[in-house]
Amino acid sequence: AKKAVLGPLVGAVDQGTSSTRFLVFNSKTAELLSHHQVEIKQEFPREGWVEQDPKEILHSVYECIEKTCEKLGQLNIDISNIKAIGVSNQRETTVVWDKLTGEPLYNAVVWLDLRTQSTVESLSKRIPGNNNFVKSKTGLPLSTYFSAVKLRWLLDNVRKVQKAVEEDRALFGTVDSWLIWSLTGGASGGVHCTDVTNASRTMLFNIHSLEWDKELCEFFEIPMKILPNVRSSSEIYGLMKAGALEGVPISGCLGDQSAALVGQMCFQDGQAKNTYGTGCFLLCNTGRKCVVSEHGLLTTVAYKLGRDKPVYYALEGSVAIAGAVIRWLRDNLGIIKTSEEIEKLAKEVGTSYGCYFVPAFSGLYAPYWEPSARGIICGLTQFTNKCHIAFAALEAVCFQTREILDAMNRDCGIPLSHLQVDGGMTNNKILMQLQADILYIPVVKPSMPETTALGAAMAAGAAEGVGVWSLEPEDLSAVTMERFEPQINAEESEIRYSTWKKAVMKSMGWVT
Ligand code: G3P
Repeated sequence: AKKAVLGPLVGAVDQGTSSTRFLVFNSKTAELLSHHQVEIKQEFPREGWVEQDPKEILHSVYECIEKTCEKLGQLNIDISNIKAIGVSNQRETTVVWDKLTGEPLYNAVVWLDLRTQSTVESLSKRIPGNNNFVKSKTGLPLSTYFSAVKLRWLLDNVRKVQKAVEEDRALFGTVDSWLIWSLTGGASGGVHCTDVTNASRTMLFNIHSLEWDKELCEFFEIPMKILPNVRSSSEIYGLMKAGALEGVPISGCLGDQSAALVGQMCFQDGQAKNTYGTGCFLLCNTGRKCVVSEHGLLTTVAYKLGRDKPVYYALEGSVAIAGAVIRWLRDNLGIIKTSEEIEKLAKEVGTSYGCYFVPAFSGLYAPYWEPSARGIICGLTQFTNKCHIAFAALEAVCFQTREILDAMNRDCGIPLSHLQVDGGMTNNKILMQLQADILYIPVVKPSMPETTALGAAMAAGAAEGVGVWSLEPEDLSAVTMERFEPQINAEESEIRYSTWKKAVMKSMGWVT
């Protein structure tokens, strides 16, 4: 017999840089009922290049959906209770595909990719110093991070892309667009759309008018016909065309950091969250206002939860490398076999013993925006061992967060009294304690760290025509909080932080 469930269920795809997950929540309590996760390969064809296979990404989504549904079956939960699906995704990563065959025309160029550094330099020269129209329209600094320059590279360098554009067969999208188009039917009727949060990361989208911007498209020489339709973050885009959840509406779409903001219920002006994934992203809701940062943060679209609902904005501190440094220690140095082992190694020593690790693998993002930086490990002696390096890697994640929190506090004027955190790495208790020590404020983490997926599920469940999630706090009754209080004194915390800053200075200027 099928087990009775407390309410309608909502599924969420969380397609991150390192892995894909599908999770199913009870919409009345936010209880996570089942999930499945698959790691995604990253290719580094040249120094600084980062690519992924769009087909692998898509297949991983199907695999996660099928496996999660099987697991629900084993729990005697009827999958016909799943009323909607939300999509959250790694942002900026750029895909171009053929709308007639459904085939990608090149690998996905990942947000971390640095191949466009020279393009960025030459474009910067064309922006008048007294009229930075790119920044004022998009809220973003010109950087290799965002989609426009990646798309420019594909148009300049990949013959298949050029030909498909000439023949009107090319479609561009960030990962959300690629997935929604494919899941809703692909070459036979797939819906080509994105949401305002993902669009705001392309550098082609005007965050004030909420439309693709003609002047920006001309500046980057991007044909507007290949861009997806921009929709709100919560509405029915289309129905699943295949698999166990065929016919279920896809009705939520948010870039993963916006999804986490929603999943943490940061709906009020001044509420903030920090998500520890491949990178680390601190977003602070600034309400209906676009706040311009004076301290190296981005202005971005936070969410728009319905066609007729208002748009909310956020200030964002983006750190490129957080969980990725652990993966690097595993895959490139081999000092751990699984990511979880990092906690054991760090615990063995409980200090980095003066070793500092600046993982500027893709240059430095906020607050520096310094593409010339490269990773360094410094302060080594013959005493240093892999445990100290493991500890320094965790500390690096915390120091980088401290830098963006400081910038956020300066921009907002009112310092945050505590930090709400989420993401896979928050299961690491040493990391959480270190974070509280280094920020010198309490760190608060939900019992269920999959907040990104939860936010996408909430947006999907709340969409008009679905209406199974009310976005009220009582709908999150299954989520409890854990608190980490600072345990070292403020002076010690400051000394460690200022040594970190010295190390950061040494990481800059490696590439000219
Ligand atoms: O901007 C990039 C970001 O969306 C990637 O997120 O979760 O893969 O670190 P994540």
